[in-house]
Amino acid sequence: MNYLHAFHAGNFADVHKHVVLLMLLEHLRKKPKQFFVLDTHAGRGLYDLKSGESQRGGEWQGGVAKVISAQWNAPEILAYIQAIRRSPSGERALRFYPGSPLLIAEQLRDNDRAVFVEQQPEEAAALKNELRGRPRVTVLMDDGYAALKAQLPPKENRGLVLIDPPFEVADEFERLAQAVMTGLTRWPNGTFCVWYPVKAGGAHTRFHQQLRNAGLKKLLLSELSIKPVDSPIGLNGSGLLIVNPPYQLDERMTIALPDLRRTLSPDGGVRVEWLVGE
Ligand SMILES: C[S@@+](CC[C@H](N)C(=O)[O-])C[C@H]1O[C@@H](n2cnc3c(N)ncnc32)[C@H](O)[C@@H]1O
Repeated sequence: MNYLHAFHAGNFADVHKHVVLLMLLEHLRKKPKQFFVLDTHAGRGLYDLKSGESQRGGEWQGGVAKVISAQWNAPEILAYIQAIRRSPSGERALRFYPGSPLLIAEQLRDNDRAVFVEQQPEEAAALKNELRGRPRVTVLMDDGYAALKAQLPPKENRGLVLIDPPFEVADEFERLAQAVMTGLTRWPNGTFCVWYPVKAGGAHTRFHQQLRNAGLKKLLLSELSIKPVDSPIGLNGSGLLIVNPPYQLDERMTIALPDLRRTLSPDGGVRVEWLVGE
């Protein structure tokens, strides 16, 4: 596998995913009862935007760099910017961008727990190093899909699974659909947040159809596109499928995401829609 998230860290898809991830974590923190988070494709946790990979990709300039230099009122975007600043980047001139494990680890309270799974040895080692000394977190060098079986259901019986694969293999959508079904069989009341690419060709639409046909319920879609969704080349949009979303997440995304999209791109659009309701 050649995928290295450093090329993409902080791009528009990371912004979309991390804004929604923080909304989900905020909801979990509203009640005192402890929660659990499983991040099946965790990455290295912190990305140096001055690294060769980030500089060559330059994708963060079309993502987080635009967001931090704009003015915001939406609490969801302000919470995201605050979370980014809480990471070692600190200063306004962004240098380090936090990945999902750091964002999650920062939101854990005394009794909450998180497991991060990363298959690439170097990325897993970097993540272990990044999270060293933090209680309540475990880093596993393993296959994230296998971890769904090993880790679910969690004893807390409350929480979130983030599935964020690199889409480097041809059958990733198929694996993802299986993963959602396996995860829900093991933990029917868990919230699952699954990232997928929106590209021309309709692969994501077939993925939706497969889940609908499987009879799953409470499936909410959130898509943020920076180009028309049928543009023939490249990634047009970032998609999130949220299973068992918290109350009013749909309304909050409908308010917060259009401003975010306008800041990121004059083209594209936002789609927040129930694929299947109750
Ligand atoms: C899109 S990146 C993850 C980004 C991270 N979730 C974030 O938001 O910061 C996907 C990661 O999955 C890792 N990976 C690829 N296949 C995997 C597998 N089967 N199990 C676990 N990790 C895998 C890659 O090495 C890569 O670091």
